[in-house]
Amino acid sequence: MTFDASYSALSHRLLDEDAGGWEIHDRAVELQRDGEDVIMLDVGDPDFRTPEPIIDNAVSHLRVGRTHYSPALGELKFRRAVADLETQTSPHPCTVDEVAIFPGATNAIHAVMSCLLNAGDEVIIPEPMYVGYMPVMRAIDATVVNVPLDVNAQFALDVDAIKAAFSEKTRVLFINTPGNPTGCIVSAEVLRELAAFCRERGVWLVCDEVYSMFTYDGLHRSARSSVAHLDNIVMIDGLSKSHAMSGWRMGWAVAPPSLVERLGAYATATLFGCPQFIQDASAFALENDQAYVISMRETYRERRDFVLESLAGIPQLRCVRPDAGMFVMCDVSGTGMDGRAFGHALLEAQRVSVVPGDAFGETTRNFVRIGLAQNYPVLKKACQRLTAFCESL
Ligand SMILES: Cc1ncc(COP(=O)(O)O)c(C=O)c1O
Repeated sequence: MTFDASYSALSHRLLDEDAGGWEIHDRAVELQRDGEDVIMLDVGDPDFRTPEPIIDNAVSHLRVGRTHYSPALGELKFRRAVADLETQTSPHPCTVDEVAIFPGATNAIHAVMSCLLNAGDEVIIPEPMYVGYMPVMRAIDATVVNVPLDVNAQFALDVDAIKAAFSEKTRVLFINTPGNPTGCIVSAEVLRELAAFCRERGVWLVCDEVYSMFTYDGLHRSARSSVAHLDNIVMIDGLSKSHAMSGWRMGWAVAPPSLVERLGAYATATLFGCPQFIQDASAFALENDQAYVISMRETYRERRDFVLESLAGIPQLRCVRPDAGMFVMCDVSGTGMDGRAFGHALLEAQRVSVVPGDAFGETTRNFVRIGLAQNYPVLKKACQRLTAFCESL
């Protein structure tokens, strides 16, 4: 007799996820494995090493035995470092009671959405959106209501369109500033207006700000720093991008204490705490980060400018200048292809992998996302290959 395995509806929903966005990446990995010289411009993983002082700090805490369970909401020292950072960047003082630590922003988003949404509740998300959002919403069985961003307005948020998307079932407005993939910064005025609109309707405003430290033109304004009332505001952030610590898995949510209490219960049920030595080093990272965050930011800025300049002369391509973040969105419709066809053809012809725009939503079907997480010589080679590819068409 064979075992007739049955699985939960949740597991089915997660497996149903369209893997199309990563098709090109998977093919690129395959080619690389076969020894081909492939340039990966797809993933958003910083190419920088985690700064040495942070590594040393983690190792020293490992050596003194910081290897045990820690409180579900996070080590007090790290929560305080997050609260201090928030206090410095906002007119609203932040206390540790408003901070919950999670292994990465992704997990923080899942925890927050799990505590705010029931199955079938609506969450409004501007599109194009970060690819990681849909799996989380599927896990929770929330209904995603997309609001397309205006490509011709450099992906600026359309406040009226967002307001028009609200319904009786709306429970959360989920914004990402600076945005992935767009590199767009949402202004303080827009955040304030949307927060007030949400609040009047009993809706939460959740703001993912993981690229907050990498702005080039214009300043990042956090949701917390922009609004009059904090009781419907949740901010998500983490160290993956800002400190080149993606593999350390450290992120957090800043939220009203009543939600943090629930996040603590969620964390107890699902995590039972994050590693002590990683939180120690993360607190150190936040408290001693100015020099290396600035250095990484300036390097990304140079890379952005270099890519924009290198591709400006290619008649079939039209790049949107990002104000922030680690990516450049490029309209490839001038080649007669959509982003996916372009991405496949580019990889086969020139061994450069990019993310097709439809991975982020229909709005950017004719785009590809070019990542800046490669050093200058590699980016230079990639731009030469892109040029050669377009010339060959
Ligand atoms: C907008 C956005 N939010 C969240 C994440 C995930 O961050 P973490 O590594 O902290 O889970 C990413 C990663 O690319 C991202 O681009």
